[in-house]
Amino acid sequence: MDMVQRPRRLRSSERLRKIVRETRMDKASLVYPMFVVEGSNIKEEIPSMAGQYRYSVDRMGEKLEELAEAGVGSVMLFGIPDIKDEAGSQAYAQDGIVQKAFRRAKEICPQLYYIGDVCMCEYTSHGHCGVLCGHDVDNDKTLELLAKTALSQVQAGADMVAPSDMMDGRVAAIRSTLDAHGFINTPIMAYSAKFASAFYGPFRDAADSAPAFGDRKTYQMDYHNRREALKEVMLDVEEGADIVMVKPAMAFGDLIRETKDMVDIPVAAYSVSGEYSMIKTTAAAGFIDETSIMCEVAASAYRAGTDIYITYFAKELATCMDEGRIG
Ligand code: PBG
Repeated sequence: MDMVQRPRRLRSSERLRKIVRETRMDKASLVYPMFVVEGSNIKEEIPSMAGQYRYSVDRMGEKLEELAEAGVGSVMLFGIPDIKDEAGSQAYAQDGIVQKAFRRAKEICPQLYYIGDVCMCEYTSHGHCGVLCGHDVDNDKTLELLAKTALSQVQAGADMVAPSDMMDGRVAAIRSTLDAHGFINTPIMAYSAKFASAFYGPFRDAADSAPAFGDRKTYQMDYHNRREALKEVMLDVEEGADIVMVKPAMAFGDLIRETKDMVDIPVAAYSVSGEYSMIKTTAAAGFIDETSIMCEVAASAYRAGTDIYITYFAKELATCMDEGRIG
């Protein structure tokens, strides 16, 4: 055969395949989401997320050290309070669960970078991401509480805040509150294109945060929409976001790519609880190989353009990167 182009040539050995790899991944870009609860001596497995646990503050060190050891860059903390009320007041309490967790984490494991998820749904009795006016979330009233929440997390030691509520104007509100208190160098990673997704099911079980009525579709986005997602991204950039996020990741690779091509700041992608649990349960049933699928899915997010990857598999991926299996 007279062929000049033989793409198989560059696939002929493992060494060469690694040399010509187009997508490079780094452990420093991995973010591990972690749940903290009130109480002591608690490490309880989340039923819908095999291998994931809720930790009390006194036990979280075990996990943090493991992550630091593995070379994972950051941890994103989610607080699960004992008391939930209409206004989600534990979200911004000085001695709230996540505030206590930040103080402790910075003390016992300062080599990790700590991000605070800023939202009300784990803290409100009705499970919605803000304060209600009738049956709908009151956008502008919620902004004040989100800004207070972000500030309280930063005061407790959070290195970065990540608003996940999808209220209009929250990035600007948080930025001005942080600036007014002197935290001009604390970055905001905005959950910009966050879709109303059934992939969050296991998380809501983990955080006991399913809405008591209705759904989140008046604030989280309709997954049919791409231009709207890009508009949300642009608005967050204009409001001062330092990093923009697309969430979920697995079914939204197109938007990770489009976001990456559009903005000149880092892009994050969140591989959410349902993505994790689908892999875990299917692998446990023996139908797929867990590690191989985990690697393939992670590489797809980076290939789509993400710079930062938030995943419950952070530690396992770090190990695979060390072993040269991916990255
Ligand atoms: C809080 C929040 C959620 C997730 C991250 N932040 C839940 C939701 O919006 O319902 C989901 C994360 C996951 O599924 O892993 N609003």
